Amino acid sequence: MIEKEFIFNYPLAAELIKNGKVSWQSPSNIALVKYWGKTEPQIPKNTSISFTLSNCFTTTSLIYIPKKAPSKTVDFKVIFEGKENEAFKPKIKSFFERIAVYVPFIQNYEFEIHTQNSFPHSSGIASSASGMSALALCLMSIEKNLNPETSETYFLKKASFLSRLGSGSACRSVEGPLVVWGKHPNIYGSNDQYGIKYPADLHPVFETFQDCILLVDRGVKQVSSTVGHGLMTDHPFAEARFKQAQDHIVKMIEVLKKGDLDTFVEIVEKEALSLHAMMMSSDPYFMLMKPNTLKIIEKIWNFRKKSKTHICFTLDAGANVHILYPDKDKELVNNFIINDLIGLCDNNQYIYDEAGLGASPL
Ligand code: DP6
Repeated sequence: MIEKEFIFNYPLAAELIKNGKVSWQSPSNIALVKYWGKTEPQIPKNTSISFTLSNCFTTTSLIYIPKKAPSKTVDFKVIFEGKENEAFKPKIKSFFERIAVYVPFIQNYEFEIHTQNSFPHSSGIASSASGMSALALCLMSIEKNLNPETSETYFLKKASFLSRLGSGSACRSVEGPLVVWGKHPNIYGSNDQYGIKYPADLHPVFETFQDCILLVDRGVKQVSSTVGHGLMTDHPFAEARFKQAQDHIVKMIEVLKKGDLDTFVEIVEKEALSLHAMMMSSDPYFMLMKPNTLKIIEKIWNFRKKSKTHICFTLDAGANVHILYPDKDKELVNNFIINDLIGLCDNNQYIYDEAGLGASPL
């Protein structure tokens, strides 16, 4: 059982239980092969692989103060963008409850979580990956203060493991530029418990890949990802979808090795559309794309044909479009985005981002 490896069992010296503050910056990520469908506790139904981003990140500081007497509850306050926030508390509370067995020392403290995002609030960009991983990394910094023998490798592995228990995709934000999560027989070291830095040959074109996020709709999500994953449980196409993802990973390994951008484009777009096809055919069904999402996709296809660049799109569980392209096509694609696409975005909003190397301590 891999999980056993993550139970903190270092003798806790009373003098080490003191006040402190730890801070991390952790990025968001964008999946190329999507995670959609899981079983308890946050075990993915298929392997996923993502680019870690750079400019979309969460910054979190965790202030910890010893409790007068340890108790089974975890006491905390959330301060989001300078204001106390009650809305985030239930998700963080269940995260703390879920991870208490691995980081039992959290019951010795009261916490203040100060957190903010680099991207606009309610932009439709999921902040759970960056937010949960930043918090998990802060907890690992406390663990390291309590147990200085914690190695760098174990630190990152357990940070990803804890992040996963907060939000599945968060386990792919700790390192970069590409992270795999979920066991796959063709990827050495891949497993369901935590994300690993892509361990096989990687063509340099993928180290500097660009991602321009077009904010098409900033409305509240119609369906939370937790509910969305749940709809895969009795989905008539579930097994075929999980197999498709596993097959895409096999193809992706070759693509990543050879820098085969034609096949890259094909797999990435097929993944995005399969994800949405699953939502459109679940019970109840959802349509998360908006008319402008489709308009953007069509324009991308036309531009790709005309320009012979390897621009492609992907989508999360929402209407926003991520445009992926190699660094060498940056100028051409950025002009296209500004001239033809931003008019289709909510308030003309978009964010340039690119593949990054993961989280960093502050
Ligand atoms: C569509 O990680 O947000 O972005 O594990 O319930 O927190 P939970 O779900 P979450 O799901 C992300 C789904 C996705 C695809 C992906 O990132 O792989």
